[in-house]
Amino acid sequence: MKHNYSERKEAGLYRQSQIIQSKQGRYIDIAGKRYLNFSSNDYLGLASDPALITAWQEGAYKYGVGSGGSYLVTGYNQAHHELCEQLKAWLGVDAVALFSSGYSANQAIIKLLLDKNALLLQDKLNHASLMEAGSLSPCKMLRFKHNDIGHLSSLLDKHQNPNTLAISEGVFSMDGDKAPISQLLKQTKQHNSWLMIDDAHGLGVLGKNGQGSIVESGAKNNAPQILMATFGKALGVSGAFVAGSQDFIDYLNNFSKPYIYTTGLPPAMAHTISCLCKNSRNTAMETR
Ligand SMILES: Cc1ncc(COP(=O)(O)O)c(C=O)c1O
Repeated sequence: MKHNYSERKEAGLYRQSQIIQSKQGRYIDIAGKRYLNFSSNDYLGLASDPALITAWQEGAYKYGVGSGGSYLVTGYNQAHHELCEQLKAWLGVDAVALFSSGYSANQAIIKLLLDKNALLLQDKLNHASLMEAGSLSPCKMLRFKHNDIGHLSSLLDKHQNPNTLAISEGVFSMDGDKAPISQLLKQTKQHNSWLMIDDAHGLGVLGKNGQGSIVESGAKNNAPQILMATFGKALGVSGAFVAGSQDFIDYLNNFSKPYIYTTGLPPAMAHTISCLCKNSRNTAMETR
């Protein structure tokens, strides 16, 4: 085996899942004991929200629990289509593609876009899914110091490459600090580089009506070339989407293997998330 887990055990670093006996919430029960939960990504307490449970039941009755196939075969039904439309309307993005997880969405983007001639610049504290995809890619990957626009700019200057993608999280998953989005947009634009924001932890909690970190920074969600966010954090469900121009999403639909060769999200789940997006969007309209 590649890793030695007895060494890990000796170092006190061996990890095991805890069995949670209650629903997600402020308190969780483990081995018959109640704990105050500081560790969840369910920031808004939606994972056990009664309205979403009802939406899930409705979706299951209407569309079924399984999609039955991949999106380009028989796995994309009305629930998925409505979810994409709701995301576009809520977030002001041009086109979206759905994924079963943020992990696979991040792998998909890097794999799809970057060949051996490309340059990938990543914030040093980006999520493991982005770092791993970058390490596996044939492209040249460099990491810039955390939230250090000067360092990013010097790397862009030094390695001038017409095929460059810079990636930052919107809110960093470990430390909870925010990326300087306006400066990232400015620098990447000046250097003709693409920018991708992984807003897994900003969507639903930052920006007007939860539209995320980019909107909070004063820009629009379609300002970076790529936005990725997950449904499994503040939205309380699971899965993810990638947003970009119609051309980019058409390209992804046609050439991204992690998108093409996988079973679509359960339609009941797509319906649940769709109801949530519709609700956030309606709230946005009321407060306009
Ligand atoms: C910043 C960031 N990106 C991507 C992911 C992966 O998302 P998912 O849990 O949907 O695979 C996570 C999850 O922890 C994350 O924190």
